[in-house]
Amino acid sequence: MRPVLRDEKLEAEFQKNGYVHVPFLSKEEVKYLWDKFFEVLKTSGGHVSPKDAGLDMDYTITYDFTFIDRNPDHKREVLKIIDEVFRPHYEKLLADYKPIIANYIRKEEQTGEVPLHENWAFADEKKCCTVSIWCPLVDSHRGNGALEVVPGSHKRFGQFRGPMIPWELEGIKDDIIKNDLVTCGIKAGEAIILDDSIVHYSHPNTTSDLRIAIQLILIPNEEPAIHYHMNQAVDNKTINILEVEQDFFMEFNPWKQPTEFKKVGEIPFVQKDLTYAEYRKKLNGPRYDEKPTFMQRMKAVFS
Ligand SMILES: [Fe+2]
Repeated sequence: MRPVLRDEKLEAEFQKNGYVHVPFLSKEEVKYLWDKFFEVLKTSGGHVSPKDAGLDMDYTITYDFTFIDRNPDHKREVLKIIDEVFRPHYEKLLADYKPIIANYIRKEEQTGEVPLHENWAFADEKKCCTVSIWCPLVDSHRGNGALEVVPGSHKRFGQFRGPMIPWELEGIKDDIIKNDLVTCGIKAGEAIILDDSIVHYSHPNTTSDLRIAIQLILIPNEEPAIHYHMNQAVDNKTINILEVEQDFFMEFNPWKQPTEFKKVGEIPFVQKDLTYAEYRKKLNGPRYDEKPTFMQRMKAVFS
């Protein structure tokens, strides 16, 4: 497997748990990125909505982040601002990765629950790991919506993830939230580097202070970006594999059919809804990017 982190110890921890906690930004950089958030907000076009794609439907989203902005130039500017500051740090930590999406994630008072999910797949996860760097600009804890993860859940569930593809853990989200989360309560400027396939969540901000965090998504330099796409209205049994340029994500509207892409394959899709017991078993089973060990094969035979 291609390495994610340059440091061997961190790499082993990342592969075991699906995330690592690292020191990341200086105090000055935190302050700079905090101030920049309010400056760049002037170019925001507001949230993209189904109406932008000509659909007459209502939709509410419980959290506020750059990716759903209507103005592609605003998204490009946010990526530039964040990458300039993050790059010297992630180049030391990560083994040759390039950024594709950057988010300021804003949680105002009493808002901002991020439902349990895995991030979309952004490259071929049989060959590599894509990562998110999550870095809060204030000290984070459960009460203001720190990142919460299910350790070791990476590369176990929903290998082909995209906006319209049903998720096998959808029906048991509440049980997982109740039983399996670890809160990453980290200080301002520290970071969690997580595998995009790890199961994660965050609570609403119940404090009276604004909570801003940053997410930068990166994929290996040598890998093309991928978007798994399903057009449910036409065929809900096939996932299309699209190779896309970075600008695809800047122009993205989840309700629009994509136009700029190269289709490189198809995957048959069968919907599965795991029970909590099945999920627990799979959590301790082999990853989808590795062959099961002899012991794991034996366990499967006898269970
Ligand atoms: Fe996420």
